[in-house]
Amino acid sequence: MIESADAYASIAEIYDAWCLEVQEDIGFYVGMALGTETKVVELAAGTGRIAIPLAESGYDVVAVDRSQAMLGLLTGKAAAAGVSNRIDARLGDLTRPGIDGLYDRVVVPFRSLLHLGNDEERLGALRAARALLTDQGYLAFDVFSPTPDDVQCTQGVWCSRESGARERADWYRADGTTQIEVEMRGRTTTLVLHPLPAARWLELVEQAGFEVLTAWGDFNGAKVRGDGTGDLVVVAQPV
Ligand SMILES: C[S@@+](CC[C@H](N)C(=O)[O-])C[C@H]1O[C@@H](n2cnc3c(N)ncnc32)[C@H](O)[C@@H]1O
Repeated sequence: MIESADAYASIAEIYDAWCLEVQEDIGFYVGMALGTETKVVELAAGTGRIAIPLAESGYDVVAVDRSQAMLGLLTGKAAAAGVSNRIDARLGDLTRPGIDGLYDRVVVPFRSLLHLGNDEERLGALRAARALLTDQGYLAFDVFSPTPDDVQCTQGVWCSRESGARERADWYRADGTTQIEVEMRGRTTTLVLHPLPAARWLELVEQAGFEVLTAWGDFNGAKVRGDGTGDLVVVAQPV
């Protein structure tokens, strides 16, 4: 199954409410910006869930996303937060961000790289991030693949979140994709994701010209699970 070109357009208005419970990554990504002497680039920035706290902490951000609807929300929220002057929101793709210059930080939060469907696209995105970084810069991103428990407990089951959103996961379909259906306040979408084991992500990061500095199983430095499933939080530097 192929994801529609802008699978987030129909849920942009409910995206922040849907993700309200996801907070643990914000401090990590704001912390990653410490010491930067350039703007921070966030690829697949969405509605600014990370970009706006970065701007509120005093960092200038280039926020790239392929969804006009998500960027529209980001722009409105930046104005409401009084940080429009710190955020440069741009339409662009993970594999072709379409921005010039060199930056000390490139971040790709909240599993956005899982939207890439094959190694060519993954390497394209990682190399595009590499090309944006100064020699001493850092790439930080997180990805996920379902644990055996996740698969056993949630496969094909509609689960309700505290936010009121409902979602249904169809992990590892015959075509190798994972499909997540989301429904909230009459808005729906189907996301198509492509999880990989942690070790494969780390190989791709190295193949794209990085040294992996840290690879954690959560945002607090937990060990990655032995079977390579669960969360993977990576910080890498160009070599
Ligand atoms: C899970 S959201 C993450 C948004 C934001 N980074 C956050 O932490 O809330 C994934 C985002 O990736 C964007 N996206 C998906 N594929 C993309 C691509 N190929 N290029 C650019 N953005 C993409 C979607 O439009 C969406 O805004």
